[in-house]
Amino acid sequence: MTRETWATRLGFILAAVGSAVGLGNIWRFPWITGQNGGSAFLAVYLGIVLLVGVPALVGMFVIGRRSKRNPVGALRELSGSNSWGLVGGFLVASSLVLISFYSVVGGWILRYLGESALGLATGSVGYFSNPGAAFASASFGLEAVVFHLLFLGLTALIIVAGIRGGIEVATKWMMPAIFLLLVGLGAWASTQAGASEAYAFYLGFDSQTLQNNFFGLLGPAAGQALFTLSLGVGTMITYASYLDEDRSLPFDGASVAVLNTVVGVLAGLVVFPLLFTLGIEPGETGTGAGALFVGLAGAFSQLPGGALIATAFFAVVALAALSSSISILEISVSFLVDEYGLERRRAAASVGALVAVTGSVCALESGVFGFVAGTLVDILLTAGLAACLVFVGWVMGRDALVEFRSGSGPVGRAVSTPWLFGVGVLIPTFLVFTLLTTFGVDGR
Ligand code: PFF
Ligand code: NA
Repeated sequence: MTRETWATRLGFILAAVGSAVGLGNIWRFPWITGQNGGSAFLAVYLGIVLLVGVPALVGMFVIGRRSKRNPVGALRELSGSNSWGLVGGFLVASSLVLISFYSVVGGWILRYLGESALGLATGSVGYFSNPGAAFASASFGLEAVVFHLLFLGLTALIIVAGIRGGIEVATKWMMPAIFLLLVGLGAWASTQAGASEAYAFYLGFDSQTLQNNFFGLLGPAAGQALFTLSLGVGTMITYASYLDEDRSLPFDGASVAVLNTVVGVLAGLVVFPLLFTLGIEPGETGTGAGALFVGLAGAFSQLPGGALIATAFFAVVALAALSSSISILEISVSFLVDEYGLERRRAAASVGALVAVTGSVCALESGVFGFVAGTLVDILLTAGLAACLVFVGWVMGRDALVEFRSGSGPVGRAVSTPWLFGVGVLIPTFLVFTLLTTFGVDGR
């Protein structure tokens, strides 16, 4: 059977943007930004997206398009060594860890979307009137398991429909919908009382924090940049493995990063005014779950037209989460299809069954969830990405340059050598450094 491919280049870009834009932009970003003092963090984060994220993204595309394989097959085949295949296996395993908690949060979102839509139908958002209690009772336990399974089931259904008929079609509709809804919500949020204070916090440039705490911001900013660009578990390798034409990979990488950043900043323009209007310090609630669910759900119950806004908002988050979860699940599905010749349906069912169990553990045990979502994933992504980039720089080497240049025109040719030096030497060094400062020194 011939391997599947994307129908169009735009389809590939939108699928990759769909992977990037997700809970990371809407749930994790305002929380981490709030915790780290707002605009200063935003500046460092944007710098890392540009200098680390974009070149790394292109590196993953280079591996994927060159090999046309899942991460395990890709690293093994391009190197001719089984040890690199094991590194690919590490990526696939990390993707399963990631989806285990991601799907639980996806389940919460479905739950909140359902409550909002119910509120819209009945004219009240009573469920949100005590959001702290509602969140506490619904976030961990059997209900959370049920909604996690629902979210996982939806994810698997799209995967089963294939690359073109499932992922590409779905993300082609989801991305414009997300964008338009966010613009509408942002316009509405700008009319709220806390808007100007929020903008000052979020967009005002705070050089003092930047000077005092630059190194402290690096670790969280790098973690957030990798998470938001879906780097470090092999998603972007897998998606690029379905490319057939040789178009410009640097262009595609830059497009994905720019579109993802636009949506991320827009999401902040929705979330922060709401939090400030209610007098909630972003980050103060301690967890991202707190900021998004407790804070915003509270806002929706107090504001006129709250049910409508809540429905639109949680619809955005649900679409964003789903277009990311399919990209995470697709990694192990492509692994089973490529390496064991499994049918797509069987592969999705097998992986789905496994994640049904591992996700349920996260849905039942808040301690496990917190460790996985807060610490483990950061470590796995950073280590996984560093390994992949060393692979591009030192194992692929010349081949990587050839693949980078193929289809990328004169500009691509001009930047290709500095790019290889960046991904082979500078960025892995930087990643190891942030790993050590974040998890070594202050022992987070
Ligand atoms: N980029 C996604 C988000 O911001 O929500 C999360 C993610 C998806 C991370 C896929 C890693 C990945 F491979
Ligand atoms: Na997404």
